[in-house]
Amino acid sequence: MWKQAIENAMIKVKNNVERFGDRFPHVSVNGKYELNNNEDWTNGFWSGMLWLCYQYSGDEAYREAARLTVQSFKRRMEQHIVLDHHDIGFLYSLSSKAQWIVERDEEARQLTLQAADVLMRRWREKGQYIQAWGLPDDPQHGGRMIIDCLLNLPLLFWAYEQTGDDRYRQVAVRQADQSRRYLVRGDDSSYHTFVFNTETGEPLGGATHQGYTNGSTWARGQAWGVYGFTLAYRYTGDKLYLDTSKRMAAYFLEQLPEDHVAYWDFSAPIDTATYRDSSASTIVVAGLIELLEHMDAEDPQLAGFEEKMKLSMTSLVQNYSTMDEPEAEGLLKHGSYYVRGNLAPDDFMIWGDYYYLEALMRMDKGIKGYWYE
Ligand code: GLY
Repeated sequence: MWKQAIENAMIKVKNNVERFGDRFPHVSVNGKYELNNNEDWTNGFWSGMLWLCYQYSGDEAYREAARLTVQSFKRRMEQHIVLDHHDIGFLYSLSSKAQWIVERDEEARQLTLQAADVLMRRWREKGQYIQAWGLPDDPQHGGRMIIDCLLNLPLLFWAYEQTGDDRYRQVAVRQADQSRRYLVRGDDSSYHTFVFNTETGEPLGGATHQGYTNGSTWARGQAWGVYGFTLAYRYTGDKLYLDTSKRMAAYFLEQLPEDHVAYWDFSAPIDTATYRDSSASTIVVAGLIELLEHMDAEDPQLAGFEEKMKLSMTSLVQNYSTMDEPEAEGLLKHGSYYVRGNLAPDDFMIWGDYYYLEALMRMDKGIKGYWYE
């Protein structure tokens, strides 16, 4: 089934190269992707999908399209277009770092190191966190760290490996530690965000941006935690991160309904109108594939995680993918971007498509994506 799903997805990606031209997909509205000129936080996912398709198939058409996206990311860096946020890791890990991993292109490596430096500027010494959005004095977002940032840390860990400059590693480790301390709660659920006093660095409290309430568990935030902590473990070997990933994964999997795909927030009331977030589930599937590689063969949670990972993936392919819809632009239906803000509450999300493809390719051919070399 995985092979068939991949073949089907690759045809759609090729059709989309024609459809999208040099623009980038973000989320869809009524099944049609909104496109932009590489100025959103999501643009790396499209580039990553093209690199995955090239690695899987060896088809030059994907490589050509992927290289063109990296040129676009180069221009974005030169002109500093919408880079004042922490999502630099999502943007450049899956575009220029992917190119470096796939074809050892030195220019792509340099561009990725530049991106790591841009991310480093978001480190706030007072409070010790990477500020997610906006400039330091931003009235709404100053003082805010968020759980999603865990997926941006591989860029810093990688920059440390490449350069030997320990500052990158230290910031990544501190951010992962602070995320464990302030974003993961005692019952293994999570806050989406945590706020510090910008002047004193004093920790103020957990809050949400995209979740149901400040104290709720936003499903995608929990998913970023599962995958992000296991990647922090891969880079550092610190068992605390592995343990945190396992605990967050167990919490996520316990909340799943009968079809093994998450509702958008685990604290939201459930009725027939409650939205799913298929993207959260596919992030967790990809994260579990990584996590399983690090677990001891005797770990009592191993078999259960593996079984649930396969049940979720099977359900995503059978019940949420567009396998039977040849004209569809997206791969995975029923993602939710920002339900409370009424932004794409039930549609395609380009990151959902990316992680779906990454998970499938990891399962089928061991192609692992671009978070580490
Ligand atoms: N990182 C933003 C989101 O997950 O929607």
